[in-house]
Amino acid sequence: MRQKTFGGAGGRIPSICARLERCAVFADVGCDHGYCTQYMLKNGLCDRAVISDISAKSLSKAQALLSGYISQGRLSCVCCDGLAGVGNADLVLIAGMGGEETVKILREGYIPPSFVFQPMRNAEMLRAYLLSKGCAIEEDNIFRDGKFYFIIKGRARGGTANYSAAELAFGRDSLKNPLIKEFLTEEEGKIEAWLARPMSGESRAELIGRLNFLKGVHCGEIK
Ligand SMILES: C[S@@+](CC[C@H](N)C(=O)[O-])C[C@H]1O[C@@H](n2cnc3c(N)ncnc32)[C@H](O)[C@@H]1O
Repeated sequence: MRQKTFGGAGGRIPSICARLERCAVFADVGCDHGYCTQYMLKNGLCDRAVISDISAKSLSKAQALLSGYISQGRLSCVCCDGLAGVGNADLVLIAGMGGEETVKILREGYIPPSFVFQPMRNAEMLRAYLLSKGCAIEEDNIFRDGKFYFIIKGRARGGTANYSAAELAFGRDSLKNPLIKEFLTEEEGKIEAWLARPMSGESRAELIGRLNFLKGVHCGEIK
């Protein structure tokens, strides 16, 4: 049975925090609970931080958790959409949102000098956007906390990478990570289960195409 280890060792939050490096100003966009900012401030990994969320209710959870840092003047809080109102930060975290939403935030805002993104879906779209903007992707990996998650760490400038189709779909480091085999097996199983149901010929063809792609990557035929 799958074990959910949210917040525990090897969990999603510690896996994200492990990728966050020392910076002057850290921003956590879509902070919700604020655990990652707590990690940065508590461990002296940033001088100052900004937390933001589009939802005032979500932001208030982080404000309650981090009230001591607010009174010390080390933390500002802003209820806003994406990066609007966040100001300039050296390192920006956007975690737990869709890849499409993350791309929208970057398009409407800016690509931060350093970033850690943990998209919940559509990671491929996010990779393609970052590469098209010349970002240097330093780590593009997979981890598991019950479910599988992709995590992308990099910098706005200095990118020269040409990703293959498989790298674009799953991340360059993910493909070298033993977890990818388990991820692909799971994804293949989901598609096979969907294919057992009635559906239009168009949907079936699309799913078969996806399944063949997954199997091709799995056996190493598609790089
Ligand atoms: C699933 S939570 C993730 C929270 C935390 N970042 C994490 O990884 O655990 C997503 C948060 O993003 C916020 N959010 C969604 N779209 C947003 C946007 N465009 N700008 C700012 N916050 C957003 C939601 O209100 C919610 O609190």
